[in-house]
Amino acid sequence: MNWTAALLLLFVASVVDLQEAVEGDCCSDAQNTDDVQEDQGLLELEAACPELSGQIIGGRPSSVSRHPYQVSMVLNGNSFCGGFIISRDYVLTAAHCVQNTAPSAIRLRVGSTRRDSGGRIVWVSNVTVHPQYGNPQFDNDIAVLRLAQPLPVNAAIRPIRLPQRGQAVPLVRLTVTGWGLTAPRGRRIPRIMMEAQVPVVPHWLCRLSYGDALTGNMFCGGHFLIGGVSSCQGDSGGPAVFRGTAFGIVSFARGCALPLSPTVFTNTAALRDWITDNTGV
Ligand code: ARG
Repeated sequence: MNWTAALLLLFVASVVDLQEAVEGDCCSDAQNTDDVQEDQGLLELEAACPELSGQIIGGRPSSVSRHPYQVSMVLNGNSFCGGFIISRDYVLTAAHCVQNTAPSAIRLRVGSTRRDSGGRIVWVSNVTVHPQYGNPQFDNDIAVLRLAQPLPVNAAIRPIRLPQRGQAVPLVRLTVTGWGLTAPRGRRIPRIMMEAQVPVVPHWLCRLSYGDALTGNMFCGGHFLIGGVSSCQGDSGGPAVFRGTAFGIVSFARGCALPLSPTVFTNTAALRDWITDNTGV
């Protein structure tokens, strides 16, 4: 049996499938319609494009009661990234979301399924970006936000646990949440929080995709060969969770949900000491 040939065949078949799903007329029509409300745009997309129904990409509508640690970050009235609560005083996010951003410019919406209403708005008093962020490129993509006032804790607002220092990322499916793009080349972001499950990709395998750019402070998640499920623009800074522990922070990828291009997450276990040093958590 020739395994290489079999694998190649599987891969080619999957790519063809995915391209039909992603590039079929159904999706581009819906997402490029300018004169519809965002909500309607989303509904249209689902109806017209069942292969991509549900969001993030390849996920489904979710809620803050399922993910009470999820935070939406707003800058000048625009949602731009996610984040997650790790204590009553701190939110974790990606460095690339907040580098060169004044704390006073950031608003966080906590405790809401909708990114643009509900829950409560909190102010940020301090932004700490990892001093080694971007050295090498994309590495250490992590930042902590200190909140101006401690959060209440209730059914909709609650810190999530972090892994122990150096704890291995389990090879399981992680849950990713956010309000990022729901179609690879879409222009609309959903109003409702979305979630999707992505399998962790072994580090050695993901290196085939990203080479040396993939450091020990990162890990990958996605359906490696076929893609189809992933975070996308706007999901950055959000968590990747397994059984109540946030192992990852959405960092980057080549495109969204493409084959051989899994999402790269910041590995919170690898940067655990830095998190403790900067938050006490
Ligand atoms: N960095 C982007 C952001 O700021 C997206 C991260 C995930 N991207 C992706 N293509 N899976 O939201």
